[in-house]
Amino acid sequence: MVLAVANQKGGVGKTTLAVNLSAALALEGFRVLLLDLDPQGSATRWLLGPDVEPEEDVTGLLEGRSPHPKEVSPRGLFLLPATGRLAAVERNLAGEVGGELVLDEALGTYREAYDWVMLDCPPNLGILTLNGLAAARKVLVPVEPHSLAIMGIEDILDAIHKVQRRLRRPVDLLGLVLNRVDYRTRHTREVVNLLRSVYGEKVLTTEIRINTRIPESVAFARSVVEYDPASTGAQNFRALAREILEKVYVPQKA
Ligand SMILES: Nc1ncnc2c1ncn2[C@@H]1O[C@H](COP(=O)(O)OP(=O)(O)O)[C@@H](O)[C@H]1O
Ligand SMILES: [Mg+2]
Repeated sequence: MVLAVANQKGGVGKTTLAVNLSAALALEGFRVLLLDLDPQGSATRWLLGPDVEPEEDVTGLLEGRSPHPKEVSPRGLFLLPATGRLAAVERNLAGEVGGELVLDEALGTYREAYDWVMLDCPPNLGILTLNGLAAARKVLVPVEPHSLAIMGIEDILDAIHKVQRRLRRPVDLLGLVLNRVDYRTRHTREVVNLLRSVYGEKVLTTEIRINTRIPESVAFARSVVEYDPASTGAQNFRALAREILEKVYVPQKA
């Protein structure tokens, strides 16, 4: 199952969701491949630390080679990192006929080798995000419950529908994921209620609360589910993984 995490807004929690949901699914016993499709490489730095310059990366895939994903922690989680090369490859793709279908084509054998392939998309609706949407079967959209942050939701939903229609790819929304939820402010409660009434069951039940353990875990090059399993953040992501496993049946590869 290929799952894209997308939202053209930056800082809403795409990388946080992609990294920690991947780790949580690995802890459930699945083989998970995480692809860092953001030239900024936040997922890569989170899992490998700031000083590693990987030799094999996601651009290999986009250029028709078969790079070997690196197994990281927890067991069962594999990463195809982003490097500085991704920005150049992004420019080339943008000028290529059918450039938005390259990842879909390249994922061929990787789809079979992993139970889950998670795509961490960049904060725009450019060619890399289009590649992510075209290669994915389902999309998760992290949303911060602030009135300003919800204005972009329709844009990403439109982008998903365009990919369905124009590229004829069977991608659809798995759900909106409320992230950085902070009930100390009344505004949050209002916006959460509004989102749940407008988008109904498209808003997943599990909410990711604001939790300082999450940014902290980045410095330790560990997902929060491993860095502090008892933290609210870790528990929210474990619950989210179980909710998604109930919604989407994915048989485990032994
Ligand atoms: N639930 C949360 N609680 C606390 N901090 C969070 C939470 N979700 C994300 N963050 C922090 O917010 C920042 C932006 O998140 P990130 O996942 O990088 O967003 P994006 O990938 O959409 O740009 C990061 O510093 C991250 O650690
Ligand atoms: Mg990111």
